Amino acid sequence: MNNKVMCLAGDGIGPEIMGQAKRLINYLNQKTTFYIEMIDCDFGGIAIEKGKTAFPSATKEMLDAVDAVLLSAIGDHRYDNEKYTPERALLDLRKELELFINIRPIKTHSKIAHLTSYRKEVIKDIDLIFFRELSSGAYFGKPREINENEAIDTIYYSNEEITRIVKVAFEFCLQEQKKLTSVDKANVLATSKKWRSIVDKIAQDYPDVKYDHHLVDSFALELALNPSQFQVIVTDNLFGDILSDQAASFLGSLGMLASCSHGNRISLYEPGHGSALAIAGKNLANPIAMLKSVAMMYQHSFNQIDIAKKIYDAIDKTLADEIFTIDLNNSNYVMCDEFVDSFLERIDL
Ligand code: IPM
Ligand code: MN
Repeated sequence: MNNKVMCLAGDGIGPEIMGQAKRLINYLNQKTTFYIEMIDCDFGGIAIEKGKTAFPSATKEMLDAVDAVLLSAIGDHRYDNEKYTPERALLDLRKELELFINIRPIKTHSKIAHLTSYRKEVIKDIDLIFFRELSSGAYFGKPREINENEAIDTIYYSNEEITRIVKVAFEFCLQEQKKLTSVDKANVLATSKKWRSIVDKIAQDYPDVKYDHHLVDSFALELALNPSQFQVIVTDNLFGDILSDQAASFLGSLGMLASCSHGNRISLYEPGHGSALAIAGKNLANPIAMLKSVAMMYQHSFNQIDIAKKIYDAIDKTLADEIFTIDLNNSNYVMCDEFVDSFLERIDL
């Protein structure tokens, strides 16, 4: 039986990034005994362009037949005024797969420290992992409405929704012997007050895990001032979205932010960057977030830890050889596909 991955190329730079992911998977299909079959499906603005909805029913049905989903990026201004936007389709995909855990690792690479806007001392030794709650909060709460005179969003969290993500984060910290930081806005928001009390309650079952609470505003400041003090961060959907982008600045570019999402069905792997319409079709995008997301897929969905490690190592080697895309170094850069040429040469199989 083949291992099947649904590929959602999506919009903007999505197709070119997916093209590079496929080169990697095809290469591994040839060079290893582990074979992945890739199944393309329509999703996002591209699906609307083809006369379908942003989340076509054929794509939804195919979710039952695959082992994992790989998604590049969705979003296109041409569809911002659609009733059903590509972004909403992404949220529905997350909902459909009951993905409540979004993991975004941020680890600094010494060879690119000088390409970031931080001093070397500030960002050396950063090894952060975000556990972002992905299935609830401000993204899904109802009512959500907009009319000529007013707009309303709702932040909703049930005990169960908070408990399950917080437990996953504590469990991870226990296994990895890491310190947990929970981020909320408990001085203002009811959902955050509940979040904080649930964290305190669950912590009693994990006496060996050190943890603390931070308010999101001062956390954002601390994160910029002294990021290496943090290890594992658990937070809600909206704060996790914002803070993980902020933390991607330690990597020099959002094009470096990989992510995976788990829940009660199959997992989803997607770079944290968007569709970057301004550079779409120009072969300028940074493929690293995608390559790392593919590595996470081999690791988490298929337990191919060796292959995942080889992907990470090859990315490190390529960066160590000072091969960069334009987002990292605009005075000396290679094109997206050239980066992947160099990266594939460095995979040690
Ligand atoms: C992300 C993105 C999405 C989000 C958008 C595209 C809906 O920013 O994955 O971080 O807000 O979750
Ligand atoms: Mn985001």
